[in-house]
Order: sequence, then structure tokens, then C-alpha cells
Amino acid sequence: MNNFGADKLSVRDQEKLDRFKEYAVSHSQLAKIDKELMRAIREPAGLAHVLVYGPSGVGKTTMIRQITRRLNEMQLPQSAAKSIAYSQDNLPPLPLLLLETRPPDGGAFNRADYYRTALKLLGEPFYERRMLVNIDSEQVWEKKGRGRTKTAQFNDSPELRHVLEDAMSRRGVQAVILDEAQHLMKLGSGSSAGKLLDQLDWIKSMTNVTGVVHILIGTYELLSFRNLSGQASRRGLDLHFPRYLFQHEPDRQDFQGVLLALLKQVPLSVEMEMLMQHWVYFYERSIGCVGVLKDWLIRAVAAALYDGSEALTLEYLQDHALSLAQCERMALDATEGEQELRYAESRREPLWRLLQAGMDASAIPAPVERSAGASAPVVSAQMTSPSSSGEAPTKNTRRKRSTKTKDKGEAALKEAETAKTPSRGS
Ligand SMILES: Nc1ncnc2c1ncn2[C@@H]1O[C@H](COP(=O)(O)OP(=O)(O)OP(=O)(O)O)[C@@H](O)[C@H]1O
Ligand SMILES: [Mg+2]
Repeated sequence: MNNFGADKLSVRDQEKLDRFKEYAVSHSQLAKIDKELMRAIREPAGLAHVLVYGPSGVGKTTMIRQITRRLNEMQLPQSAAKSIAYSQDNLPPLPLLLLETRPPDGGAFNRADYYRTALKLLGEPFYERRMLVNIDSEQVWEKKGRGRTKTAQFNDSPELRHVLEDAMSRRGVQAVILDEAQHLMKLGSGSSAGKLLDQLDWIKSMTNVTGVVHILIGTYELLSFRNLSGQASRRGLDLHFPRYLFQHEPDRQDFQGVLLALLKQVPLSVEMEMLMQHWVYFYERSIGCVGVLKDWLIRAVAAALYDGSEALTLEYLQDHALSLAQCERMALDATEGEQELRYAESRREPLWRLLQAGMDASAIPAPVERSAGASAPVVSAQMTSPSSSGEAPTKNTRRKRSTKTKDKGEAALKEAETAKTPSRGS
């Protein structure tokens, strides 16, 4: 049957497409970052903020939504005192508060807007003053402090901030997650490291008052937030959510495992062997990012369903692949971030010059190697030699794949080493 040009899918096909869209594949990079974040949420131990950065389309938002859903449904064990507060308000605890940070309308990040969004999510769009005040009303208290003060620069509102801090403590919020957190760095004209530090200090002071850790998720732009001062460094944890790297064999195998898992969920007939032989093409047009790959497959599956096709052919995939130019731009951003990270993590010498000021700078102690079988370290906690830095986790840190998937992956890899990418498509 061919229903080319149909502008609506049948209920059954729509359900098939929705199910495929909802399917989230579990993969090793995702599992690793999930575990690290859970640890930080459970026991922040002095942390004011956690930075989670990675390339666009690697799956950061998907990962954090999964964690938020899981924890908010589970509701972490609460202290008895907090439980009493909840019952008074009749609102359930909300361990994680997930907010998407918006780009500022004006020059700089708008803190008052942030308080409003958070308060609405907490179900508190009003607060008590002498009268009931709508937080969206014309009376914007933050305008009072016009001038060159920090309050005015960031459009801050001490009053709204206080209301939010109270609301967070009533709802038992343990962590605030700011997705797209690179917008926090939009600081208008004259952006400087000093202003970035102001933003981190603002976060730190909210953490000090409420005990709520802030998790900032975003692209590699977030790297500018790292290590702005000794105190900020001590209070921060950095987590890297990387794409799969073609130059690392374990990554290549994992990528093929992901591809296979996604293809198996396609609600159409699929020539699995043939498509797996083209895994390098899938890698090329997704630059090793699982989210980019999934969006591509969704577009191709949707087109095939709209056409009434019973199979997801290579042609559909080629028609909906990102162009080479798009991939090149994405790869440029990703590799720039990766290089910056690798450079920062490889420099033991500057640290040791400071630690042994006045001594023979050539006597740098040997780094402590990780023992085999240990779980992968947090990138920022590593002190590696330049040659080993920035490497993806080794084979023995990987989640064990099913032998079937692995065999298939290896077979496809052998093929692919000689294979070319399909000739169609830009
Ligand atoms: N593990 C996964 N399994 C299946 N689909 C995924 C997975 N991770 C991400 N996706 C899908 O990929 C797409 C992009 O993912 P997501 O929005 O999480 O990426 P991102 O890293 O937040 O990108 P950006 O930096 O551009 O915001 C979404 O449609 C999402 O559903
Ligand atoms: Mg995102």
C-alpha cells in the first residue's frame, strides 16, 4: 500500500512511531554518567555545583529527564522533620527540580525570570506579602535596584529569591538541574571571568542557604565555568558526557551495539545485516552521538510510515541523513571541546610547579595509575600524562554487552574496515 502524501498517520502507525520515539537505549556512556550524577545527588559532600557537558545531541537532556523521573517517582528517603513540613503543605516532596534555562531577552541572564520559572514548577506562582502578589505582574521588584549593582546587572530580585529558597526547602528539593545552562553565561556586554564567577558565587550562596546542589547541563561552552577560582574549583564537580570516538575500538563496538539496539526497535521490516554493514555511514552522519542517530532514525521511520512503506530501506535513511556540511560543523564543535578538555587534564607540570615552588621542577612524582577493573574515574579527578589523557574508558570499564550483539558488532566492524559509505546522499 502506498499512501504517499498522507498528512495523518493511522492510529496504529502513530502508535508505532510514538513507541519508537519513546524508546531509550541504555548504553555505556549514558550508564557511566548516570551513576556519577546519582552519587553526587545522594552525597554532595561540599559540592555547590556539578557541571555536565558534552556535544550537542549526545543525549544529555534525555539522561537528566530519566534521572529526574526516576528519583521524583521514587522520592528519596526524607528526614522526619521535612516529612512534617510536607504534610502541612499537602504537596509531595520533589527531590529534583528540572528547569530549562532560557536565553535572556536582554543582554544578561535574568535571575528573576529563573526564580519565577522555578516557583511555578514548584506549584507556587504566588507568595504572601501584605497582599497576594502575582509573580508575573507589572510590579517587578527587581527594577528597584537600577544602576551598576550586581542585583541590577543580573536583574536579580532578593525578594523572589527568598520566596524560592523557602519553597525549595518546603518541597524537599535536593538538587536543581539547569538544562541548557550555557545561557547562564550570557552576561551582556563586557562579559568577563569576573562576571562568570559572580554567577557561580550566586549559585554557591543559594546552596549554602538551602543545601540544594545545582547541576548545570550544557554544551562544551560550560567549560568556561571550570576552575574560575580555588574556592569555586573545590565546590564543583565536572562530568563529561562524550560521544563515541571512532579512533577507540571499544567505542566503535559500543556504537554498533547502540545502532543494532535501535534498529531492532524500528517498527518496520529492516535488513539488519545490510544496514549493520553500513555502520560507518551511521557513525559519519551522527558523529558518534546517540541522540543525533536516534533523531535521524525517527525522521526516516516517520517518512516510511507516511509513505505506507513496510520497510525501512537504506534510501529512506539516506534521504534523511544530515548533510556532510552539517556533520562537519558539529564535529568541529565537538572536537574543539574534546581538545580543550584533554589539554586541561593533561597538564600536571603547572600544578607541580606551584606545589614545589623553589624546588627542582623536573622532579614531578609519577601519577597514580588506576587498578584494572576499577570503575571509570570522573574526568576532572584524573591526573594523567598527556599521552593517555582524554581517552575513552578502557574495555574493562565497559558494561558487558551480550555476546550476540558483540559478535554482530565485530562482524560488522570487519566488513566496515573495507566498506565504503553508501554513495547516495550529500
Ligand atoms: N539513549 C537514548 N536512546 C534513545 N534516544 C535517545 C537517547 N539519548 C537521546 N535520544 C534522543 O536523541 C534526541 C536528542 O537527545 P537530547 O536532546 O537528549 O540531546 P542533548 O545532548 O540534550 O542535545 P543538546 O545539547 O542539543 O540539547 C532526542 O530526540 C532523544 O529522545
Ligand atoms: Mg539538551
